[in-house]
Amino acid sequence: MNATPPRPRLVKTVDELRGILDGVRRSGRRIGLVPTMGALHEGHLSLIRASKAEYDYTVVTIFVNPSQFGLGEDLTEYPRTLDADMDALTGCGADLVLAPSDEEVYRPGHATWVEVGAGAEPLEGRHRPGHFRGVATVVLKLFNMVGAQAAYFGQKDYQQVLVIKLMVADLDLPIEIRVCPIIREPDGLAMSSRNACLSPDARQQALVLWKSLCLAGELVEQGECDTRIIAERMRQTIAMAKDARIDYVALVDPDTLEPVDRVEGRTLAAVAVHIENTRLIDNCLLKAES
Ligand code: PAF
Repeated sequence: MNATPPRPRLVKTVDELRGILDGVRRSGRRIGLVPTMGALHEGHLSLIRASKAEYDYTVVTIFVNPSQFGLGEDLTEYPRTLDADMDALTGCGADLVLAPSDEEVYRPGHATWVEVGAGAEPLEGRHRPGHFRGVATVVLKLFNMVGAQAAYFGQKDYQQVLVIKLMVADLDLPIEIRVCPIIREPDGLAMSSRNACLSPDARQQALVLWKSLCLAGELVEQGECDTRIIAERMRQTIAMAKDARIDYVALVDPDTLEPVDRVEGRTLAAVAVHIENTRLIDNCLLKAES
C-alpha cells in the first residue's frame, strides 16, 4: 500500500501558529525554522531537509516581505505561488507553514525597525538602500513568532547571513543560525526564486554569473592574486551577455566585506547583475594556496 506523503499544515495567523507551537514545545520537541519568500525551489528544500535532520519539528514561513524591497524594485513582480509551494513541501519534512498577509506581519501603526550596522552597508546595502533594515526586522519578527531553536539560511545570500548573524549576536537572540551551501542547476546557475522571472534567452545569459566566479577560481589556482586583474576578467566575462548590467563585482574579506587588494587566504567573490529586468546575485569563496 502506498501511503500519501504528509502535507504540512498551513496557517495564516500568528495566533494559530503560536497555539500549535505551544503544544509542540510542551511535548518536548525542538523547532527548526526556515524563513522564505516562497516560489520554493531545491535550495529551499535543502534547508528544510537540514532542519528536519537536526530538529523534531520544522516550520517554514512564506512571506514576501514588502519592507525589504526598495522603490522601483520587483515587489509586485516577485513570484507568489502558494499552491505550488504547498505541493513542493509535501513529503519534504516540513511540519507547519506560516503564510501570513502583509497586515498580519505589519499591523497598522507598525513603527519599530531594526537598525543594522556596518555589515549591511557595502555590496547589497549600497545598491539596495534599506534592504537589510527590512530583512533584519522581518527576520527578528519571524524569530519571535516561532521561537525556534535554530533558523536555516542559504549561502547564496551571503551578506544577508552575515547581517542576521550580527543581529543575533548583538541582540543576544537565543537562536542558532545554520548556513547551507548554494544549490545550483546542472549548468551552474544558482537556484533562486527570481530565476522564474527569466525569459529562456535571459536564462542562458544568466550563466555569466557562475562563469565569472569559475574564472575567478581558475585565475587564483593559476597563481593570480591581484584582485583588480581578477575583477576585470570577471567583468569581461559578464559583459559577454548582451543584456547584462553589473551592479557589482567584488572581491572582499569574507568576514568584514571590506575590499581586498590581493587574494590571500579566504576571499569572497560576489557578483550582482541585472539580466534584462531580473537582478541576480551569486558568490563563492576563493582560497589562495599559501
Ligand atoms: O532570503 C529570503 O528569502 C528573505 O530575505 C527572508 C530571509 C525570508 C526575509 O524576508
